[in-house]
Amino acid sequence: MAVEVKSEMEMKKIGSFLGSLLRGGEIIELVGDVGSGKTTLVKGIAVGLGIDDYIQSPSFTINRVYDGRDNITLSHYDFFRLNDAGILANEVQEVLGNKNTVVIIEWGEVISGVLPKDRLTISISVVGENSRKITINSGGDSSRKLMGKIKI
Ligand SMILES: Nc1ncnc2c1ncn2[C@@H]1O[C@H](COP(=O)(O)OP(=O)(O)O)[C@@H](O)[C@H]1O
Ligand SMILES: [Mg+2]
Repeated sequence: MAVEVKSEMEMKKIGSFLGSLLRGGEIIELVGDVGSGKTTLVKGIAVGLGIDDYIQSPSFTINRVYDGRDNITLSHYDFFRLNDAGILANEVQEVLGNKNTVVIIEWGEVISGVLPKDRLTISISVVGENSRKITINSGGDSSRKLMGKIKI
């Protein structure tokens, strides 16, 4: 599915709706250029997960973890400019097995080897200054189910 998002606020609202659908165990890969709005979408998702903390881009720390509602943990990764994920790939693999954790990954190519097919992939492209196009794809049963609930 694809939709045009006309403002940063709308992107956060979509994120918040998506976040409200999450139950733990979901894997979301965000694809798009620098400044396309990946982290902005995560800020919205965090709201939907009941996270009060300010979501910072994990570009330098690679990973940030937040506690959300219903015992759900959000683990947000950003592998920007990393050519080799090293042992982080193993760490991600472990986290992926946790039923209470929602894993969101920006610039995930470098760990594509450990990413299961069954994940939600959200691609964001820049249309204009405040306009973005988001395309959502699913790679398996759980992510397809989740995608079916996204009404935007
Ligand atoms: N419709 C939109 N959706 C998301 N971000 C937008 C939108 N319009 C403008 N922006 C701006 O684009 C930038 C997106 O930054 P960010 O979310 O950090 O991108 P990324 O994580 O993809 O590098 C922000 O400065 C935001 O204000
Ligand atoms: Mg980012």
